[in-house]
Amino acid sequence: MTGQFITFEGGEGAGKTTQIARLKQRLEELGKTICLTREPGGSPGAEKIREMLLSGAARKLGPRGEAMLFAAARADHVDGVIAPALVRGDWVICDRFADSTRVYQGEAGVDNETLDLLETIAVAGTRPDLTILIDIPADIGLSRVSSRSKTDDSGGPDRFEADTIATHERRRSLFLDLAKQQPERFVVVDGRHDPDHVAGEIWWAVHRHFKDLLPEQKDNSTTATSAEG
Ligand code: TYD
Repeated sequence: MTGQFITFEGGEGAGKTTQIARLKQRLEELGKTICLTREPGGSPGAEKIREMLLSGAARKLGPRGEAMLFAAARADHVDGVIAPALVRGDWVICDRFADSTRVYQGEAGVDNETLDLLETIAVAGTRPDLTILIDIPADIGLSRVSSRSKTDDSGGPDRFEADTIATHERRRSLFLDLAKQQPERFVVVDGRHDPDHVAGEIWWAVHRHFKDLLPEQKDNSTTATSAEG
């Protein structure tokens, strides 16, 4: 595979969508071909499963059943979209990936052994080169989500957004734990800052990570927190 695989992770209202669009634009300006995608979903089969998951229709399967559906969606997405794009040499940017299952379904009680198995089967060896975790306190993220859903036609919080603030805070710490465990893959940025500042930190981190593949960068005045330190 010759392409590069970047994932974005974080709690609700962290600002992933805005930051993903900005990173895509910046990489395109450097001549990269970007495959922009998301989970759950991203391929026709996975988008059907997304609807079941986010509407709450799959809730009665329990956390393990839901984790299996996320994994099934991921398998279709990897096989049909992500792996072919990487083979073509594209840069893939994915809004959420396997770390979200570890955090959301792990928090809901699915044990690590099951999560390991499901991940191995779903990703079939396709793993992110870099994961950007946008960290935000749950109360700030949720208040952004609730003011957004008043102005768009999303119809209110989805199955996972509607959980308690304590649940969202536990997810936040699980994301941060993952970042600590895999510092070579993760970069943590503080999502409380304004979008320009966050975009600067992300760009600095991406540039540092892929320095051999991108033109030399003069302005490195912003500071992303590497999970290494
Ligand atoms: P989405 O509308 O894509 O929201 P967001 O902007 O927060 O990414 O909703 C995806 C929801 O699904 C989100 O609440 C996280 C949850 N999720 C899981 O529980 N497990 C997973 O493996 C993935 C990919 C997402």
